[in-house]
Amino acid sequence: MRDINEFTITDAVKKTFKTEEGSRFEQLLHSFIEHVHDYTRENQVTHEEWMEVLMFLYDCGQISTPERHEFILLSDVIGWSALVDMINTRGGATEGSNLGPFYLDNAPRKTLGADLSDGREGVCVLVHGTVTDSLHNPLPGAIVDTWQADAAGTYPIQEQDQGQDKMDLRGVFEADENGRYYYTTVLPKPYTVPYDGPVGRLLRAGNRHAWRPAHLHYIVRSPGMSSITTEIFFENMEYLDNDAVFGVRKSLIAKMKPAKDLDALGYELSKKPDAICEFNFVLAPEG
Ligand code: BEZ
Ligand code: FE
Repeated sequence: MRDINEFTITDAVKKTFKTEEGSRFEQLLHSFIEHVHDYTRENQVTHEEWMEVLMFLYDCGQISTPERHEFILLSDVIGWSALVDMINTRGGATEGSNLGPFYLDNAPRKTLGADLSDGREGVCVLVHGTVTDSLHNPLPGAIVDTWQADAAGTYPIQEQDQGQDKMDLRGVFEADENGRYYYTTVLPKPYTVPYDGPVGRLLRAGNRHAWRPAHLHYIVRSPGMSSITTEIFFENMEYLDNDAVFGVRKSLIAKMKPAKDLDALGYELSKKPDAICEFNFVLAPEG
């Protein structure tokens, strides 16, 4: 391997990895090496630029904790997370969108019609709709796991030091025999992704802001179907066209209506809503 130069080094490096021939791991590793080398050759990267990138990644590692994933945030703000979501959305199913850092996998079970706001002030909104397959067949018993920020744009989990219960503003619902889910909650506000670290520096260097439009997070699943991780946004809200993490899709923007004709819906609600937001989830079969 003495006889290598800037053009032959790529293949030489690939050959040193004794990976299973034709495996997915080999494909991804070889392709990664090729792209990094091509990037370096195309841009004639200098030592200073190379070291700046490595120090940036070092800083991402330094600021990361079990609660703060700076590398995921980096992936989010360069649209990589969104691209993975787009590529992996199954035909006919609701489009996928950011999981974000605030999911907890043991949120409390709530009965349909419950209020999720845990006493927080703000616009009370009825969120409702169906969970079906792509042929509109209801999926009774589908699980709708949701979490969100409050009317100040804060997740309770971010304010545990101020006595907030991290399980507030989240819940797990089971769709009824018609595949319907419904609950009331407080309308969330936009908020910023963390920008006090290296990713914040990157945003500032690119004259970008750190805001996300108001949204509700969901994981929806049903036996035999591919589960989806997604978000619902609200029409006419700020930052829909410049979400810092590229999570918005046209199909995920729900319409808001004033809360009229509630009786016609036939729901038993524990709180009277000011507005109604309808969103129907569609799951595709597994496999
Ligand atoms: C969120 O939606 O909660 C979120 C997504 C990406 C980065 C930070 C927060
Ligand atoms: Fe969020």
